[in-house]
Amino acid sequence: MPKSQKILPRPEVQRTPLDQHGALDFAELARLGISPDEIIDFSVNSNPYGPSPYVADAIQRAVIDRYPDRESLALRDALAQQFNLNRAQIIIGNGTAEILWLIALALVRPTDRALILAPTFGEYARSIALMGAHIERLQAQRDFTFTAETIHQTLSVTAPRLAFICNPNNPTGSILAPQIIRELATAHPQTLFIIDEAYLQFVPQMPSSIALGLPNLLVLRSMTKDYAIAGLRLGYALGPVELIAALAKVRPPWNVNAVAQEVGLASLMDATYLSKTISRLQTAKRDLVNGIQALGLAPSPSATHYFLVHVRNAAEMRRQLLERRIQVRDCASFGLPEHIRIATKTPPENEKLLTALKEIV
Ligand SMILES: Cc1ncc(COP(=O)(O)O)c(C=O)c1O
Repeated sequence: MPKSQKILPRPEVQRTPLDQHGALDFAELARLGISPDEIIDFSVNSNPYGPSPYVADAIQRAVIDRYPDRESLALRDALAQQFNLNRAQIIIGNGTAEILWLIALALVRPTDRALILAPTFGEYARSIALMGAHIERLQAQRDFTFTAETIHQTLSVTAPRLAFICNPNNPTGSILAPQIIRELATAHPQTLFIIDEAYLQFVPQMPSSIALGLPNLLVLRSMTKDYAIAGLRLGYALGPVELIAALAKVRPPWNVNAVAQEVGLASLMDATYLSKTISRLQTAKRDLVNGIQALGLAPSPSATHYFLVHVRNAAEMRRQLLERRIQVRDCASFGLPEHIRIATKTPPENEKLLTALKEIV
């Protein structure tokens, strides 16, 4: 018998870092002998008020013994109406994370450069690394913001094919006004701007960059967090027809399951869900930030319901909170080993976090 050859992953795969995210790590909890149900999870930036009441019926309605609509037509039509776009300008993904990988697959060549405004969501760099392209990082100022000037300069010097702008940014909660995005995209027409608006709905009155209608802008949205359906995953991209068609060409067939499509539609139909829950969340965030400050800690300013807190040793803080059945995000993977990220939850849950923090600090 011939000796079997060891099959190695391609070099780009070997160089791609492992993914590191918030959310419960079920294996870690099993090692610690903790049940996932015991944990209050502040490490995921989801709407803590749970899904719309319409969702339960939608789950019942979903037909699961046949393949789902591979084009997600009904959901795209509902979104087309909401954004005043054409259906062909919209693609639905199994979460926004899937769309990022479709972008890499469809648009990124090994010779390309991609600009990332750091610190930010780790999947941009991972998907670019997988394609073997080069990553340029522009680091935020000490207060985690950027000036339009420095972004302009970096774009001029590096002339990247893609620029990722997470707006509002994860993990910092900082924002760039659509006016600045318009200026950047207009001044650098050779660059495709990927504007990740996964958390836009958590900033009341913040306009989407899709309204700019520019040809070199692809806007990503997630329904996973704001509509509290993380267990289902649902995201979409809005942009020029040719780019959306390219993404559709590389997506796996039936990528969005029937339950997610029904639930997405039902969530959009609930006209008051977001306004009600987000305004409650703003009040809860204000109280939580005040409570954390009263403990002598300094939460960083943030436009969203999640925010960074400087704690010196984030891994140790996370560990101590986990012992108390509370999970926060250790931001080491964002290059911030002295910061944790906290996403506001309901007031009774926030009280439990404050009690635990008080014991520790
Ligand atoms: C900025 C950002 N974009 C996209 C995603 C992925 O969203 P989804 O759960 O819809 O895939 C996340 C999730 O953490 C995120 O933080």
